[in-house]
Amino acid sequence: MADATLSGPGGAFDADVFVGGDKSLSHRALLFAAIAEGDSLIEGRGAGEDIRSTERALRSLGVLIHNDRVRSPGIRGWATPGGPIDCGNSGTTMRLLAGVLSTSSIEAELIGDESLSARPMSRLVGPLAAIGGVIETTMGTPPLRVGGSGQATASEVQIDIASAQVRTAVELAALAVNGETTIDSPGGFRDHTERWLSAIGRGRWVTDTKFAVTGGPIPPARYEIPGDPSSAAFLWACAAIHEGSRVTTRQVSLNPGRLGFLQILESMGASVEAVVTGATGGDPVGDVTVAARPLHAIDIGGSLVASALDELPLVAILGAFAEGVTTVSDAGELRVKESDRIASVAAMLRALGGGIETADDGFSVVGTGFLEGGTVDSAGDHRIAMSAAIAATRADDPVTIRRAEAAAVSWPDFFSVLEGLWS
Ligand code: S3P
Repeated sequence: MADATLSGPGGAFDADVFVGGDKSLSHRALLFAAIAEGDSLIEGRGAGEDIRSTERALRSLGVLIHNDRVRSPGIRGWATPGGPIDCGNSGTTMRLLAGVLSTSSIEAELIGDESLSARPMSRLVGPLAAIGGVIETTMGTPPLRVGGSGQATASEVQIDIASAQVRTAVELAALAVNGETTIDSPGGFRDHTERWLSAIGRGRWVTDTKFAVTGGPIPPARYEIPGDPSSAAFLWACAAIHEGSRVTTRQVSLNPGRLGFLQILESMGASVEAVVTGATGGDPVGDVTVAARPLHAIDIGGSLVASALDELPLVAILGAFAEGVTTVSDAGELRVKESDRIASVAAMLRALGGGIETADDGFSVVGTGFLEGGTVDSAGDHRIAMSAAIAATRADDPVTIRRAEAAAVSWPDFFSVLEGLWS
C-alpha cells in the first residue's frame, strides 16, 4: 500500500474491539527478557514494525526470539554485533537500547531510518554519563556509539523533560550499578518501567516522580501484554465524532501516564467509561468505552500533554468537530516525533479544509463542524496516516492518504480494523 483512499462519511456504529499489544510494554518486555538470563515468555506483544526493530536488534546481540519465547544468555553473555544495529523508525528501540548498552561491555553503533536519524539523542547523554554510561551522538542525533566500558556508578540523575524513554534508558542502565541510582524528572510520564522494576524488587518510589533503582540481575519471566491505548485512541476518537456511535476496547493498558487522551475526550464532552479489570506487573489493565456526545473546545497544556502526547494529532480532529477553538500548548516535543507533528497536523487539517493555526509549542483548531475531502501526506508518520483516516470517516468527500503504509509502524491491521467498525 502506498496511497489509500477512504470515503466518508460513515454512519453510526457500535463496536467491541481488541486492539494489538501495547507498543511501549512490548519493547520493555523484550528488553527485560533479553537482559535476564534464561527463558522468558511474552504473550500478546505488538506486531508493529517498531517491535520488529527491537527484536532484530536483540537478535544481533545473540538473543533468540521465536514466537512468544525469548532465550537469552543474559546481558553479560550478549554477543558483539557484526555491524551497526538498525533501529528502523523506532525512537523507543534506539533510546532504550542505548541506555542498556551504555553501561555494558558491548561496544555498538546504533543507526536508524531517515526520520529517526533526525531525532534528538543528546537528551540521553547527560543522564547516562551521570552513572558512567558511555554514549556519543553525531551532533546530537544518530548514529550513536554506545558502551564498551562495562562500568557504572551510583548517582542521583535529574532529567529535565517528562520523557519515559529517557527515564527507562537510565533505569535499565542503572541495573549495572553496584548500589542505588535515583532518577527524577517532571511528571506526567508513563511509569511502566518503574512498576515492573518495583514488582521484581529492583526499585522503589522515593517521591511521586523520583524512583530508585537497585542494581543487579533481573529474572526471566512471563509477560502478558495488554492492548495499546495509543492504538485504541484512534477508535475512541472515531466514535466521539460519529453521532450515535460507541466503541468498547477490551484489555488495554490503563497506566495513568497513558490516560491523558481519555481525560481530554471527557473534558470535551464525550462519554468515557474505563473499568480496571486486572494488572500485569502492577500496571493496570481494563476495558474502555467511548460514546459520542456533542463536543466543545478546551485548552490543553501542562502535565496533561505528557500523558496524551502520542494522541495529540487526534485532538486536532476532535477540535474540528467541537464547538469553539481548541488549543494545545506546552507540546513542543511534537516537533521532534516521527515527523514534526505540529507541521504535519496543520498540513493535514488544511488539506481537508479545516482551520488551524500553529505555535512553536502547539496549535489551535477552529471547530467548523465539517471537513472536506482532499489529499493528506502522512509525512511517513504512522500517527498522521491513521489520524487522516479517522478524519476521512467524517469528511464530506473521499480522502487520499499518501504513504499510508506508515501505519504499520505501530498497527499493521489498522485499516481493516477501522473498516470493521461498521460491519
Ligand atoms: C514512549 C514514551 C514517549 C512516547 C513514545 C513511547 C515509551 O516518548 O511518545 O511513543 O515507550 O517510553 P517520550 O519518552 O520521548 O516522551
